Amino acid sequence: MGKILVTGGTGFIGSHACVSLINAGYSVVVVDNLCNSKVEALARIQLITGKQVRFYQADLRDEESIRQIFIDNKIDAVMHFAGLKAVGESVEKPLQYYENNIGGTVSLLRVMAKQKCHTIIFSSSATVYGCQNPVPYQEEMPVSATNPYGYTKVMIEQILRDVCKSDPRFSAVALRYFNPIGAHESGLLGENPNGIPNNLVPYIAQVASGKLDHVNIYGNDYNTPDGTGVRDYIHVMDLADGHTAALAYGMEHSGFTAVNLGTGTGSSVLEVIRAYEKACGRTIPIEITKRRAGDIAASYADAAKAKELLGWQAVSGLEKMCADSWRFTVQNPNGME
Ligand code: NAD
Ligand code: UD1
Repeated sequence: MGKILVTGGTGFIGSHACVSLINAGYSVVVVDNLCNSKVEALARIQLITGKQVRFYQADLRDEESIRQIFIDNKIDAVMHFAGLKAVGESVEKPLQYYENNIGGTVSLLRVMAKQKCHTIIFSSSATVYGCQNPVPYQEEMPVSATNPYGYTKVMIEQILRDVCKSDPRFSAVALRYFNPIGAHESGLLGENPNGIPNNLVPYIAQVASGKLDHVNIYGNDYNTPDGTGVRDYIHVMDLADGHTAALAYGMEHSGFTAVNLGTGTGSSVLEVIRAYEKACGRTIPIEITKRRAGDIAASYADAAKAKELLGWQAVSGLEKMCADSWRFTVQNPNGME
């Protein structure tokens, strides 16, 4: 099998992708600047897989360090997770987001081209469907954004399209994630958010473990079955396996392709809270508050293209996602230290 460079490989999704890649027989090299993760994730990956992971602490914008990684290792393909991801922060610090996410990607692509590595799997997001498209979202719908974070995804997809057009050897698969949650089922690897979480499931986990008081439900007057927001939650290990499938596809096909990674099913905030209560055996106190700015009523995938092109579909339901999240929370009361 090949050697894969995983950028952002100590982060939430990248670390689970390392497990999936190693399980599929690839060897993995990780580069991360640790701005939003801990090196401990590597020890956890090694504990789960029994395999060593070569690690470089470096920033993607430091082109010379990235070039050195390609010289030290014969890299066959890149999985590119490294980036900043907080929507609210991106509104406050747009230049930091453009510089880090776009600058990092451009320097990575420049090194790849020089080193004759032409396959990249990129972490895009369902956020590129903006707020005008009807659900379920299909890959050929027009893309747009409502905040700088979203624009970095739209722009990076365009950069990848242009690079593929300019060099027919290039292959880029942009994976548009829906809402990744859960953890590896060992309880060893999971999400490690800094401070008070913004996203629903990490927030619920902290309420369930007593660190936070109650969950604020951002609006119950949406045009959805129970009035609360509907999202397509996907188990992070399903998502990781989707990357491994996309890599096999990318190694065989050139050009740019965008593919949704979702389950195709939406769940409401109340349904997620109920599933989490079942998983942890505790009551999760809730309070209905006003809508969060920028939120939409419903977002879920048309998952047909992933099945057809990659031969992949998500298998875990909400119950397993919550059970695995809870196991990680209990086993790691202070996150991965
Ligand atoms: P994460 O913050 O846990 O992981 C990102 C990693 O990238 C971190 O370890 C961070 O230290 C590293 N990093 C950031 N900038 C870097 C740079 N310039 N050089 C080197 N390393 C750098 O986030 P995640 O949830 O694992 O997300 C991974 C990717 O998936 C991101 O691109 C994110 O935008 C995208 N995504 C995430 C979600 C989600 O819900 N988590 C949804 C859609 C898309
Ligand atoms: C958010 C981001 C999105 C990003 C995604 C994954 C915004 C506006 N969108 O999506 O760009 O790709 O995270 O990182 O930030 N909710 C509550 N109470 C809470 C938290 C959330 O009711 O404390 C609700 C939200 O209104 C939403 C659902 O739960 O209906 C999911 O929210 P969240 O986990 O933040 O994900 P998204 O809003 O889908």
